Amino acid sequence: MERVSERRYVIKGGYPLKGVVEVSGAKNAALPAIAATLLAPGEYRLKRVPKVKDVLCMLKILEFLGATWSFEKDALIINTSGINKTSVPYELATQIRASVLFLGALLGAKGEAEVPLPGGCAIGKRPIDLHLKGMEKLGAEISLYHGNLRVKALNLKGCEIVLDFPSVTATENLLMAASVAEGETVIKNAAKEPEVVFLAEVLKSMGAHIKGEGEDTIYVKGKKKLKPAHIEIIPDRIEAGTFLVLGGLLEENELEIKNVNLSYLEVPVSKLREIGVYVEKTGKRSCLVKREKSLKATKIVTAPYPGFPTDLQPIFTVLLTQAQGMSLVVENLFENRFLYVFELNRMGANIKLEDRTAIVNGVTPLFGSPVKATDLRAGAALVLAGLCAENTTTVYNVELIERGYENFVEKLQGLGAKIEVETL
Ligand code: EPZ
Repeated sequence: MERVSERRYVIKGGYPLKGVVEVSGAKNAALPAIAATLLAPGEYRLKRVPKVKDVLCMLKILEFLGATWSFEKDALIINTSGINKTSVPYELATQIRASVLFLGALLGAKGEAEVPLPGGCAIGKRPIDLHLKGMEKLGAEISLYHGNLRVKALNLKGCEIVLDFPSVTATENLLMAASVAEGETVIKNAAKEPEVVFLAEVLKSMGAHIKGEGEDTIYVKGKKKLKPAHIEIIPDRIEAGTFLVLGGLLEENELEIKNVNLSYLEVPVSKLREIGVYVEKTGKRSCLVKREKSLKATKIVTAPYPGFPTDLQPIFTVLLTQAQGMSLVVENLFENRFLYVFELNRMGANIKLEDRTAIVNGVTPLFGSPVKATDLRAGAALVLAGLCAENTTTVYNVELIERGYENFVEKLQGLGAKIEVETL
């Protein structure tokens, strides 16, 4: 029998949710920012860093490499003056895929890095060939030694890199290494995600010369020396998207979401309006969301930014179980990102899988049932399903959810959700 984790969420569904919820800083912006502190020894103040498991894991790796860190009242303080290692331990690195970001940061900072070759994860094989090809072009020698990737370069030299695919962390790794390389690096077909733009801004606040971030081609003029900086993490657009969907999930729900940047969510918001969810901007960083009319089916196709984010795919699928008609959800980024569908069908959904498409037939009432999270976003989707299901849903493997959602249960309870954490 497959083991499930000790802790679980017990949810009584069907209760209307109302009130104000504040979005935390973005996990996928904080992780590269933490790695980037290696590029200039010294003290950094990072505000709005979400206290989620993935962040703590990155900090433990930084500590292993010789840094110190502490969460103070309103900021995370990191000091990288004492970095004295360039090899990341297997036990820590394998807990988080983003440990691959230490490759570019250490290569830039120390001219060498050793990181365990990341295996696949629940949502797909996730190779890192594009990261390595780019580093090789910058002049790094790459070897595999006892399962560890070793990258080494006496002098990183600027060059032109054309990415086969606009990979987020590959672009971030190359941005960090190129920021301290000799000469200019041009990254073509770069990722345009807000988190990539944010990393470029962080590196620029450390003294790097970068332009074109957020566009297909990024230009980086390498600098010998960078300096520490004070950083404020951008809002988490995937967490915001999760609460936007929650706002439209039940007829009586009405949420005000704070610390949300809607310009990061143009495609998901236009999809929500198409489905029948009312989203209104109420301030520079806030919006109101509620059900406008009965929900209707639609087609969702995931793509790199500014396309529909793959991380919101499972969450929107829950909403589409409550929409009249047949919806199609096409997943183009990760080959194994529909595992949650089997759990939703256990709750009464009617979803068929054909290759990379989920065919969602709605409206299907959902019934409470024991379900297990298979990855971070799948877990959040099952919590939302439990909140609109009849009776009680028990979600297992909640550690996966806490990797990327800060105080998720408390935030939901603040909106009137009947959700409790139980430990076996
Ligand atoms: C980032 O992962 C995010 N993680 C993911 O969020 C997100 O799903 C993904 O981007 C896409 O938006 C972080 O930022 C820490 P990719 P990343 O490289 O960089 C293929 C979450 O839930 N590829 O852009 O690993 C790859 O297999 C997580 O918060 C190669 O083939 O994603 C995939 O099909 C999950 N070779 C596609 O590109 C490579 O060298 C996109 O991956 C690199 C990627």
